[in-house]
Amino acid sequence: MTTSELVFDPFSEEFFEGPWETYRRMREEAPVYYNEEHDFYALSRHEDVAAAYKDFETYSSAYGLDLAQVRSDEPLDAKMIILMDPPEHRQMRSLVNKVFTPRAIEAMKPMVTETIDRYIAKANPERFDVVGDFSAFFPVEVITQMLGVPEEYRQKVREWVDTSLHREPGQIETSEAGMQAITESMAFYYNLIQERRAEPQDDMFSRLIAAEIEREDGDKTRLDDFEIAGFAALLGGAGAETVTKLVGNAAVTFARNPEQWQKLLNDRSKVPAAVEELLRYEPPVHYNVRRSMREVNLHGATIPEGKPVFLLGASAHRDPTAFTDADTFDIDRDRTEAQNLGFGYGVHSCLGAALARMESAIALERLLDFMPRYEVVWDDCQRVAMQNVAGWSHVPVRVLT
Ligand code: HEM
Repeated sequence: MTTSELVFDPFSEEFFEGPWETYRRMREEAPVYYNEEHDFYALSRHEDVAAAYKDFETYSSAYGLDLAQVRSDEPLDAKMIILMDPPEHRQMRSLVNKVFTPRAIEAMKPMVTETIDRYIAKANPERFDVVGDFSAFFPVEVITQMLGVPEEYRQKVREWVDTSLHREPGQIETSEAGMQAITESMAFYYNLIQERRAEPQDDMFSRLIAAEIEREDGDKTRLDDFEIAGFAALLGGAGAETVTKLVGNAAVTFARNPEQWQKLLNDRSKVPAAVEELLRYEPPVHYNVRRSMREVNLHGATIPEGKPVFLLGASAHRDPTAFTDADTFDIDRDRTEAQNLGFGYGVHSCLGAALARMESAIALERLLDFMPRYEVVWDDCQRVAMQNVAGWSHVPVRVLT
């Protein structure tokens, strides 16, 4: 028997289809994987991925969040927390943490519930696309409402993000349409910031305009337009894509594991645990990319300084040394066994985690009401081909009586 060559290509069709077997082989055969074609490294074992997330001195975020950016090897000037290392990251993050406290998020619950209910109310049980009719729309609606984007532009934000993240198989760089979408969205945020400077309202834009940040030299200053627009673009992107994918992944995963759906129908208190297990088993974010800031020696291999390194959280979640029956979807599993990396880990761990958990739990509750028994129309399902997020663009279902 010959073993096929081990190739992890995050821009291949095979990746978009679900690279679980590749991850298994990487963990076993090449825990420090090197991709010669694109000149990047990847860590896939739970212990290594978790440690790398924590070690921001060795694995920098400042060179970009995807392969195209990191391999160009220039620190980015974009003012987004996800692209900053400490101490700059710490200052900016502590400012925005104040907007995302658990209490502030809890106060959003009526708005989040109302937004989700608006979409489920329109659903047709004969033919319902869990993503195309539901989960594609409400997350962006929620985050843009929080920001203060006028209603008529909220879905436009999603279209901009979709276009900028879309990749054809083999395409690594952002397309021309993607660049155009990024430029348009930044111009849109810039204009909105000018409007809020002139006339503040009760929204996040206005709060960010009023906030003061302590800079590295101890000076306190306001955020500039560039910083606020960058933050809005980050929130729009992170808020629009991820919960969408989690809910789509939920419909597929529960259809394949109907006894787990039944457990939820029997006991709704398990919904938060189900969200955690979905984040582990089918996470919307498979990886984050860092740049090695020094030579790393691990498992007999060497990562030179200055290379893109993929931290494969999705693979870490299937690592049998971290989780018992790691390939089994079990909402009742012992969650203390190992760190769930679905929201990242360490200084960059997801700012929107509490919001995402709330949105996902409410959405699951509504799906349990709307489609207690359902079947997926498998032939009409479609996966996304995107940078940084994995999941489905269409999951049509039939509600069974
Ligand atoms: C299920 C939904 C979500 C998932 C799976 C997810 C996943 C992640 C992951 C893996 C990271 C770490 C990035 C890194 O280490 O480079 C992250 C960071 C981040 N997420 Fe989320 N996210 C979700 C929802 C949200 C939402 C709703 C928001 C918006 C409010 C949000 C805002 C952010 C921000 C701003 C960061 C950057 C934090 C930093 O750099 O300090 N996320 N998220």
